[in-house]
Amino acid sequence: SMGLLRERHDRLRGRITEGSRPAVERQRALGKRTARERLDLLLDEDSFTEIDMYRRHQAADLGMGERRPHTDGVVAGSGTIDGRRVFVYAQDFTIFGGSLGHAHAAKIHKVMDLAIATGAPLIGLNDSGGARIQEGVMSLDGYGGIFRRNVQASGVIPQISVILGPCAGGAAYSPALADFTFMVRDTARMYLTGPDVVEAVSGRRVTHDELGGAEVHGGRSGVATFVHDDEESALEDVRYLLSLLPSNNLEPPPALPPCQATTDHRPAFAEIVPVEPNRPYDIRSVVAELVDDGEFLELQENWAQNVVCALARVDGEVVGLVGNQPMVLAGVLDVAASQKAARFVRFCDAFGIPLVTLVDVPGFLPGPDQEHAGIIRHGAKLLYAYCEASVPRVQVILRKAYGGAYIVMDSRSIGCDLSLAWPTNEIAVMGAQGAVNVIFRKELAAATDPAELAAELVTEYSERLMHPHYAAERGLVDDVIDPAETRAVVARGLAMLRNKRQTPPQRKHGNIPL
Ligand code: COA
Repeated sequence: SMGLLRERHDRLRGRITEGSRPAVERQRALGKRTARERLDLLLDEDSFTEIDMYRRHQAADLGMGERRPHTDGVVAGSGTIDGRRVFVYAQDFTIFGGSLGHAHAAKIHKVMDLAIATGAPLIGLNDSGGARIQEGVMSLDGYGGIFRRNVQASGVIPQISVILGPCAGGAAYSPALADFTFMVRDTARMYLTGPDVVEAVSGRRVTHDELGGAEVHGGRSGVATFVHDDEESALEDVRYLLSLLPSNNLEPPPALPPCQATTDHRPAFAEIVPVEPNRPYDIRSVVAELVDDGEFLELQENWAQNVVCALARVDGEVVGLVGNQPMVLAGVLDVAASQKAARFVRFCDAFGIPLVTLVDVPGFLPGPDQEHAGIIRHGAKLLYAYCEASVPRVQVILRKAYGGAYIVMDSRSIGCDLSLAWPTNEIAVMGAQGAVNVIFRKELAAATDPAELAAELVTEYSERLMHPHYAAERGLVDDVIDPAETRAVVARGLAMLRNKRQTPPQRKHGNIPL
């Protein structure tokens, strides 16, 4: 009868909650929430549809036959965020330490396949002891299946990894393949080999945090895109990030109604950026002035700080902003900055997000350290990423733009659609003093007053060759604008470019210098 079926159903479900009480208490004592609590925080209320709740492992070795909890240590399914569909999995550390066995992996594969098939973002909440040791090579097979799907999904749906506990060994490669990785201070850790192995191999003692805590990956390695103090704010920011992303590569990014940005007059721009080419300022103040409500989401804010990458809206439309940061290393491009900006440009291009590039760059960082670290290879990534990008591209030259770095920062020659420049005197192959020293070396050596001659030549050089009108007359800059009109002109430019379509050339894929 109906009553009997219901009773059976309730009895079965009642058994499926989470791990043992001590395991849950241990989780809480570490300041961590359970998998289901995390999903409650992440998803819209009552929106979660769980799948594979009854699934459990089929292993029998090493006492596993007697312990076969439902869910197999991962809660998987689908829900909504601000009403938009997402697929999720949350590893449950209270069951087998969230370790990944065959059934656990198969559940993750299933939600990944559904996310790809339906064009919805994938969010993985990671909290796991890694490959389930008792299931041997079947666990490793499970990871491989995740990685392959991460790559299939790349550029098709946004992929977000949230690290809320250990994520070690092979497990670290799924977040590495995702588009965004969130880490929580004190509890999240990522490394390929843990402290014990490090000590055995090198004799060096390191703590979990020193090796792969949120601070390390947010500031030194660049592995973490976002670092948070607690789980609540991390999951809240996942929701915010998704509000700026399309659900898949065939959908436009979610726009809000326009807000009259096209007529916005902002005298503050000229106050933020000093006229002297070497005076530092915070490029984020320019970004805040440019975007709607001064609100933007910065990626990797503590890594490669000499370049700033952010998502925001201009006149309601989502844009990706790349800006040199004169406050850090004078805003030069180096290995890390090139990698950071290149990956961001490619993400935006894959998901149809227009690019706005704010240029104030003295060049590439000189020196053997950078050359030996392969700045040629890494700078080429950024060059490649821009050259390949087919989304609307707007360049704004705020102050200086020298040499190779000028070319790389989305110059006309590599395909920007609209190049705008403030009436600066600093666009050229190199700075005026350096240029004069090279081309008038003999004259200066022979001069009775070399300092006076040099000053004259510097003025002549900068007035003739470095003025944006020199570039504008030659079509490399489309307009020289009043700084106060920057927001309005950029908004109008983005509106003009909205329907840009570009068909990529026929080939299997290019060979980006990785
Ligand atoms: N395979 C199987 N079970 C695992 C596991 C794994 N990889 N990692 C953790 N577990 C189990 C533990 O045996 C323990 O089970 P129990 O409750 O039945 O005793 C439970 O998960 C909790 O783990 P515990 O070690 O008590 O938690 P911790 O917070 O002290 O340590 C780790 C967490 C991740 C540092 C530790 O569990 C660990 O080193 N795991 C192995 C990591 C590894 O080498 N993985 C394989 C390579 S990818």
